Amino acid sequence: MLPDGSLKGCKRIKGCEVMPSIVVVGIQWGDEGKGKMIDLLSKQADHIVRAQGGNNAGHTIKIGEEEYRFHLIPSGILYPHTKCYIAGGTVIDPEVLLKEINGLETKSISVKGRLFISPYAHVILPYHRELDKLYESLKGDSAIGTTGRGIGPCYVDKANRMGIRIGDLIQPEALEKQLKMNLSFKNKELQQVFGQPSLNFEKIYNAYVSYGKQLESFVSQVENTVAVELKKNAAVLFEGAHGTFLDITFGTYPFVTSSSTIAAGVCAGAGVGPTQIDHVLGVVKAYTTRVGNGPFPTALSTEEETTFLDHAAAREIATTTGRKRRMGWFDAVLARYGARLNGTSSLAVTKLDVLDHLEKIKICREYKVKGNILEIPPAQIQDFEEIEPIYEELPGWKCTTKDIKKWEDLPKNAQKYLARIEELCETPISIVSVGPERDRTLIIPKIIQELGFGL
Ligand code: GDP
Ligand code: IMO
Ligand code: MG
Repeated sequence: MLPDGSLKGCKRIKGCEVMPSIVVVGIQWGDEGKGKMIDLLSKQADHIVRAQGGNNAGHTIKIGEEEYRFHLIPSGILYPHTKCYIAGGTVIDPEVLLKEINGLETKSISVKGRLFISPYAHVILPYHRELDKLYESLKGDSAIGTTGRGIGPCYVDKANRMGIRIGDLIQPEALEKQLKMNLSFKNKELQQVFGQPSLNFEKIYNAYVSYGKQLESFVSQVENTVAVELKKNAAVLFEGAHGTFLDITFGTYPFVTSSSTIAAGVCAGAGVGPTQIDHVLGVVKAYTTRVGNGPFPTALSTEEETTFLDHAAAREIATTTGRKRRMGWFDAVLARYGARLNGTSSLAVTKLDVLDHLEKIKICREYKVKGNILEIPPAQIQDFEEIEPIYEELPGWKCTTKDIKKWEDLPKNAQKYLARIEELCETPISIVSVGPERDRTLIIPKIIQELGFGL
């Protein structure tokens, strides 16, 4: 990027003829609408890569009356011209992936020859799911509120160098050896720590050999394919999962997930160097939500909740677990730091329409903690308990935005609200979303033209 903020000097853009490589990441606590953005950008993309996390993610895409829910397969699969990849940094529950594949096939969306799975990705086994739930119940009040999908325990095994990878899953001998060893540890833990019955080797082995057979034809070294395509200047999208403040290092630890959710984590999970990324698109809701436990400084008061849309109308029911997401005001302290942690080039602000009816809208500009003003979130979870959000109040626009297609046509107060988000996050807005459907989207020309999206 040139010092004036333009991207013209970028070697991969070539006078805007080609769409650049873009990482799409969530800047809050997940569910920002990343799936919708990936679907939208996929029209112009050749390849879409999912790089980290597992089926704890849930991305909903609405096309006409039809809704598609993805947990593992990149949301770009809905366009027939795309190729989609599940890269080495992910953890895969093969049963869930097969269900997702079959679900698409029954809707006549073929994934054969279009979906590729990395042999480096780790496999979620029944003991991971079981241990996830047992750890949560043992933690009592300190439970994280995980999705119960076995994500944490699977990443623990990966870091402990005893994980089973997709490459092992498709080789019954490798699977047998590794599973026998792992089960000897896991059964001790289940029986002696938790007083649970042990798990049967044969049952798991047979089921997983069968999953391996069904998935074998999808497995290839996707990281190499993506590297070769990037060299050819293909348009590659990287689909981040979860959100910045669920990041294992920089999130609201320990109330986080077990992978690195920031743009650099997406690069690491995809085996792609930072030199290959042209643009980081940070997705933020026009307000804030959180699902699961952990601090939420700008959560709505009980009274404020009554003025907001209900969970169903706001589409704030979790895609993966069906839990109601907690809702709150836009937290610019969080979003600003999120934008920085991701090296965010531009923001996509989603769900502006959810605020359409409000008389007044609050934005949290700073935190006050023990008398001190904080411009970024504290590192320690204990300090989150002490946060007093400092709000500014902006007038609402009190009319529908759902059919608006251009920035100039947005109500003046909506423009002012968005401009304030831009200013507080120190990042320009390139896309505004005013509904779940593809066409309920405003593209802000300046940045998008430089990127050559042509949406
Ligand atoms: P993701 O995990 O970041 O992909 O987000 P989810 O799909 O889990 O949650 C976002 C929800 O909001 C989904 O139901 C989307 O269909 C919906 N959505 C996305 N953008 C908009 C928008 O601009 N307005 C409204 N009302 N809903 C949206
Ligand atoms: P997408 O990609 C929202 C949250 C869980 C829990 C914590 C840890 O749809 O934005 P885990 O099962 O990962 O060990 O749970 O992380 N969480 C998400 N919340 N959206 C997600 O993904 C999430 N993925 C994990 O609710 O609080
Ligand atoms: Mg989601």
